[in-house]
Amino acid sequence: MSADGYLDDSSPRRLILSSPEDLAEIQKLRASCDAILVGAETVRKDNPSLCTRDEQARQERIDRGLPPDPVKVVLTSSGDMDPSSRFFMKGNGKKIVYHTKKKNNLLLPQATPVHVDSLIGLIADLENRNMGRLLVEGGARTLTQFLEAGLFDEARVAVAPIKLGSKGAAHLPLQDFKDRLKLRKTERHGETDVFWYNPADKALLARATELAFLCPPTDRAYCVGALIASKDGAVLSTGYSREWEGNWHAEEIAIEKARRAGTDLTGAAIYSSMEPCHPRLSGKKSCTEHIADSDIARVIFCLKEPLHFVQCRGEERLRAAGLEVFHDLSSAPRARTANAAFFP
Ligand SMILES: NC(=O)c1ccc[n+]([C@@H]2O[C@H](COP(=O)([O-])OP(=O)(O)OC[C@H]3O[C@@H](n4cnc5c(N)ncnc54)[C@H](OP(=O)(O)O)[C@@H]3O)[C@@H](O)[C@H]2O)c1
Repeated sequence: MSADGYLDDSSPRRLILSSPEDLAEIQKLRASCDAILVGAETVRKDNPSLCTRDEQARQERIDRGLPPDPVKVVLTSSGDMDPSSRFFMKGNGKKIVYHTKKKNNLLLPQATPVHVDSLIGLIADLENRNMGRLLVEGGARTLTQFLEAGLFDEARVAVAPIKLGSKGAAHLPLQDFKDRLKLRKTERHGETDVFWYNPADKALLARATELAFLCPPTDRAYCVGALIASKDGAVLSTGYSREWEGNWHAEEIAIEKARRAGTDLTGAAIYSSMEPCHPRLSGKKSCTEHIADSDIARVIFCLKEPLHFVQCRGEERLRAAGLEVFHDLSSAPRARTANAAFFP
C-alpha cells in the first residue's frame, strides 16, 4: 500500500507499489502457500495470473512434491468473471471460484465452483482439501473482511514511500484495525517498509466467534466457537459446539484436542463467543472446570450466557480460580447472529 493506505490509484493501468526487492519476497511468499485468494474485483481490474514467476521457488515446490503454482482462489457474489482472464487461462494449477450465489450457473474454464455462506466456511472447505496455508492478497474489501473476522494467523503490510490520495481507489486504512493487529517485526526491502503483525485479542475473539457459524444448528443448545492461542497469538487449538458427536462444548473440544496433541497450554488464552458454562445442564464437567484444570491463564469471552437453560456462573468461577477474565463485547453482533433463536 501507499503511505496513506491506498492499494491502487484511480487510473486504469496496473500500479506496482512494491520495490523490486519486495516483489522478490512476495514471489517467495506466494510459493510457500498452498493457495492464493483474491476478490473478484482484483481479477477484473488487475487481471493477475497469480502464478509463481520465481523459477527457483517453482523448482523447490516441485522438489517437495507440490504443483509448481499454488491453487488460485477467487471470491465472488455476482459471478461476473471473464473466462479469458489470466486467472483462468494462465498456469495448469487448480482454480477455485467460491461464490455466494445459491444457483450455480457459472461457466468458467478449468475452475471448480464452490458455494459458501461465509469466509469461515471457505476456510473450512480449503482445510478439507488439505490446504493449510492461504495467502489472501487483496483487494481492500476482501482484506477488510478477513481482518474484521480475525481470519488470519499473520498480516504482512508493505508500505511504499509515496502518498496517493486516490479518491475512489481501493483503500485499507490500517488505523481501523489497530485493535486487531499486534506488531511483531519490521523489515526493509529496498524502498519498501514491511510490517508483520500477529492477531491481537480482538482478532482472536472475532475468529472464535466465526467458528460458531460452523456449528450444526439446533434450537436446543447454543452455537459457540472457541480457540486457544499462545501468548504471541499463535492459534493452538479450536473447537465449536457439536463439532464432535455427543454432548461436547466448544471450549471442551478445544482443550481436549490440545490434550490429545500434547500441546503445552502454559500461559495460553482461551477465546470464546460465549461465557464458558458452569454449571452444565447435563451435569457433565463444565467448560469452566475444564479451563480451571488446564494451564490456560486468560479467558476472553464475548456474550454472557442467557438465562434459557441455567444461571451461568462461569465468569465468577473462573475469576475465583485465579484466571484473568475479560468480557469483551466487540464481536457481540456476530455472536448473536450465530444464535438468532436465543437473541431474536
Ligand atoms: N496493492 C496491492 O497489494 C493490491 C492487491 C490486490 C488488489 N489490489 C487492488 O485492489 C483493487 C480491488 O479491490 P476492491 O476492494 O475494490 O475489491 P476486491 O476486494 O478485490 O474484490 C471485491 C469483490 O470480491 C467479491 N467478494 C468480496 N467479499 C465477498 C464475500 N464475502 N462474498 C462474496 N463475494 C465477495 C465481490 O465480487 P463480485 O463483485 O463479483 O460479487 C466483491 O465485489 C484493485 O484496484 C487492485 O488493483 C491491490
